[in-house]
Amino acid sequence: MSLRELQAKAVRDPEGFWGEAARAITFRVPPARVLDASRAPFYRWFVGGELNTSENCLDRHVAAGRGDQLALIYDSPVTGTIERYTYRELLSRVEKLAGALAARGIAKGDRVVIYLPMIPEAAIAMLACARLGAVHSVVFGGFAAKELAARIDDAKPKLVLSASCGIEPNRVVEYKPLLDEAIRLATHAPERCIIKQRAARRAELVAGRDEDWDEVERSATPHPPVPVESTHPLYILYTSGTTGSPKGVLRDNGGHAVALAWSMEHVYGVKPGEVFWAASDVGWVVGHSYIVYGPLLHGCTTVLYEGKPVGTPDAGAFFRVIAEHGVSVFFTAPTAFRAIRREDPEGKHVRRYDLSKLRALFLAGERSDPTTVAFAEELLGVPVVDHYWQTETGWPIAANCLGIERLPVKHGSPTKPVPGWDIRVLDEFGKELPAGEIGSVVVKLPLPPGSLLTIYGDDERYVEKYLSRFPGFYETADAGYLDEDGYLFVMARTDDVINVAGHRLSTGALEEALASHPDVAECAVVGVHDELKGQLPLGFVVLKDGVDRPHEEVEREIVALVRERIGPVAAFRRAVVVPRLPKTRSGKILRKTMQAIAEERQVDTPATIDDPRILSEIGDALRSSKSP
Ligand code: COA
Ligand code: AMP
Repeated sequence: MSLRELQAKAVRDPEGFWGEAARAITFRVPPARVLDASRAPFYRWFVGGELNTSENCLDRHVAAGRGDQLALIYDSPVTGTIERYTYRELLSRVEKLAGALAARGIAKGDRVVIYLPMIPEAAIAMLACARLGAVHSVVFGGFAAKELAARIDDAKPKLVLSASCGIEPNRVVEYKPLLDEAIRLATHAPERCIIKQRAARRAELVAGRDEDWDEVERSATPHPPVPVESTHPLYILYTSGTTGSPKGVLRDNGGHAVALAWSMEHVYGVKPGEVFWAASDVGWVVGHSYIVYGPLLHGCTTVLYEGKPVGTPDAGAFFRVIAEHGVSVFFTAPTAFRAIRREDPEGKHVRRYDLSKLRALFLAGERSDPTTVAFAEELLGVPVVDHYWQTETGWPIAANCLGIERLPVKHGSPTKPVPGWDIRVLDEFGKELPAGEIGSVVVKLPLPPGSLLTIYGDDERYVEKYLSRFPGFYETADAGYLDEDGYLFVMARTDDVINVAGHRLSTGALEEALASHPDVAECAVVGVHDELKGQLPLGFVVLKDGVDRPHEEVEREIVALVRERIGPVAAFRRAVVVPRLPKTRSGKILRKTMQAIAEERQVDTPATIDDPRILSEIGDALRSSKSP
């Protein structure tokens, strides 16, 4: 069927469409209904069905004869390690860890926080939780203790799986002290922590609470998969919203498995047995969907890469991995290719490797700028697919679906809606806009399987954040347009979320950190265009009356404070003291105006500004600021 036919079928007959797709998944009990709309807008998929996600990722492939095929390749240039796990070997480790967790009282529905660097244990931990029907919540390693504590308090895990350290090219990041500090800050106390001791830095274990991962796994009895209802939660993944408190995106087992398996074949065009590599981190949705679950559900070999696009050791790192492991389909963020281009604009490195197996590169996480896409196309000589999705959606909303039919590329567009996603563009009153006009990008309900069920523990916030502004639609919080050929163009966020190197950050959370400095009276954070990372956060602060310390000193302290409270991932390197913030007469801070000044763009003085002289004061402060 053509893309157009599949799109039409998924909209006209979602039950028929997804019922067919569900055949790729092994249900212990077949679903009684494909789509349950009885509690709309809380739609549920494959109700009455029972399955186990880890069984679908591992056991059934071993049973079907894939036991000796590679399931996971761990490639770590930062430690000089490559390890290969067959499906049988990965299963054996997962069933043992699941047994160890069960022996420590973890059962269906219990939450487990996973705070791990990019080591095989991260995937093993997720699959072991899934095996028991326990709900994992992976926290990215680049977050500070306070952010980890906030997630512990929201998810209330019985147990935490972590490691002694992570390894960044320039330093060893000690995870364990961060975990200890987070547990100290949190109100909720996990009963136990299981810690993977890494050779680069061993951690001290807290007697009575912490256990050594290797010992725990060695002495464990393998645990069989526990069938759970399709609608039973598989994981919570926190993502940034407008405010400082992260939103726990909750995902189910059944819909998730069906949607991801379908996407592997139809979006990515990859076959079971092939090598699929998503160069992201398990702490992000890309890592959940396309390092761990998607490739394994589909019987592929996945690559778990502990390194960077540049500097580990050079700008040829990605191409070495693709050649060495025979990667067929590769996925990364545009920022990674910008980093490669900056170091190796002529693409000298790529010529050292045999990339003959590579069929396509997929880019997501931020808008793919045409220059980067053109660079990657020229470098690799394969289709470069910009595709668009979000933590909430779990899998691509818009893409050039190589597994269905390859459409002509329009640079700057992630191509067309993927079947299952009925995308519309609405004006502020909820009226559909004609082709070419920018408005809010929304998806008509019901969302397809694999999308978020709700925000963990807060149905009201789910409805308020995503479903209330345009009744009957899911609001992506992105602005964009559909052109006359039905291609989607995603232009900007409509909220205060910024995108730094493909990482989503809340300006609200950053502002909370700035405001906690004792000398700060008022502050605002905006995202400023950056050649490499897409955007970088920039903080404007107004000091309290009477503070007459050198501005550089306060600015330095604020930068350090953000790193301590949010973490290095924020890449917050610049705060500027200003005399006042520009506001409307009703007191609303004019962030877009500050952003335009910082980006040295033409600034039209907003009609509602209370005092236009502030704009030149801000320009002066930026020019005289000593922070980098
Ligand atoms: N644990 C601890 N710290 C981490 C970390 C982790 N897992 N990941 C990143 N950090 C730290 C880095 O060490 C860096 O710290 P520094 O300020 O001391 O240098 C900081 O967080 C920012 O990291 P990063 O965003 O990786 O920036 P970078 O300057 O080190 O590298 C790129 C720039 C473009 C190479 C890098 O951002 C990149 O590879 N991006 C790919 C993006 C991606 O995969 N996005 C996921 C969505 S698809
Ligand atoms: P995250 O939830 O961290 O994956 O971030 C999702 C957000 O990143 C989206 O809402 C968009 O703002 C942005 N984004 C992701 N992929 C794309 C893309 N291909 N084009 C434009 N924006 C994108």
